[in-house]
Amino acid sequence: MTSATVGDNLAQNQVSTRGFVADVLAGLAADQKTLPPKYFYDAAGSELFGAICALEEYYPARTETSILKTHADDMAAAIGADAMVIEYGAGSMEKIRILLDALVAPVVFVPVDISKAHLIAAAKDLRRAYPDLAVQQVVADFTKPVPLPVPPRPASRRVAFFPGSTIGNFDPDPTVAFLRSIGDTVGPNGGLLIGIDLQKDENRLVRAYDDAAGVTADFNLNLLTRINRELGGNFVLEQFRHVVFYDRDLGRIEMHLESLVDQSVRIAGWTFNFTAGETIHTENSYKYTVAGFDDLATRAGFQRDRHWTDTEGLFAELFYIRMP
Ligand code: AVJ
Repeated sequence: MTSATVGDNLAQNQVSTRGFVADVLAGLAADQKTLPPKYFYDAAGSELFGAICALEEYYPARTETSILKTHADDMAAAIGADAMVIEYGAGSMEKIRILLDALVAPVVFVPVDISKAHLIAAAKDLRRAYPDLAVQQVVADFTKPVPLPVPPRPASRRVAFFPGSTIGNFDPDPTVAFLRSIGDTVGPNGGLLIGIDLQKDENRLVRAYDDAAGVTADFNLNLLTRINRELGGNFVLEQFRHVVFYDRDLGRIEMHLESLVDQSVRIAGWTFNFTAGETIHTENSYKYTVAGFDDLATRAGFQRDRHWTDTEGLFAELFYIRMP
């Protein structure tokens, strides 16, 4: 049975060009220039992120996949039968297949992603591979409340799946707020299966975000290409470079784009000046301990049920239950 899809019209909170231009203008007007990492994922950016996940240096993707493969049956048992599974930031929908293969009679799979073309293509592939599964995709900015579709039959519980350590993009307080909103979406006794990147050796962390082939640099710089194309900007990409460092105190990787020269850039009728060495802060990627993340989840009304990690302790998959 194939369900109706909601991808094309259930998009009240989709990223609009208006939101993009407002965020870019505000971000570049700040003292420390910033751009929100959610705008990395246009079609080209989603492709580049796929290439990052295939890099030797970028351990999170393959490590999480191996954790899911090793423990899928335990995870399925923790979730239970007849669940509605909602994936936040669904991307290529490869990881969910591992879980879907182990889950007992999932009622519906709801992939939520900001990148519409990518979401629709990936959902189509998933339907082909799982013809008996109802798939109801939602094109949305999942940092805002996600409008859920009506499932084809009642679900025993809603479970949010948030893999990939995407949560690492949020600062701690917004993380708590976001987890609380996930809790509202899944409701009492709802579940949250979330992937987090663990704190580890600094060199290992930096290499994962500054790979030898320069794929992550291209991913970072693509944000400027996107502004040029969609907002009529005139960034000269050759005049910026990709910069990465780990802030141990804050427990986060930072990515920046550094201006190599004094220059000005025009975007949507506005001019922004850069001095040589000045940066645009484009991404934070927080690294946690299990106990550290438990603290945030507890503040958001979740209690941890189980967790799984790899033999090297690089990455962890945490399963929480929303308190009544
Ligand atoms: C998609 C946010 C999990 O932080 O590791 C990868 C994004 N940025 N390489 C991460 C990313 C540069 C990624 N997340």
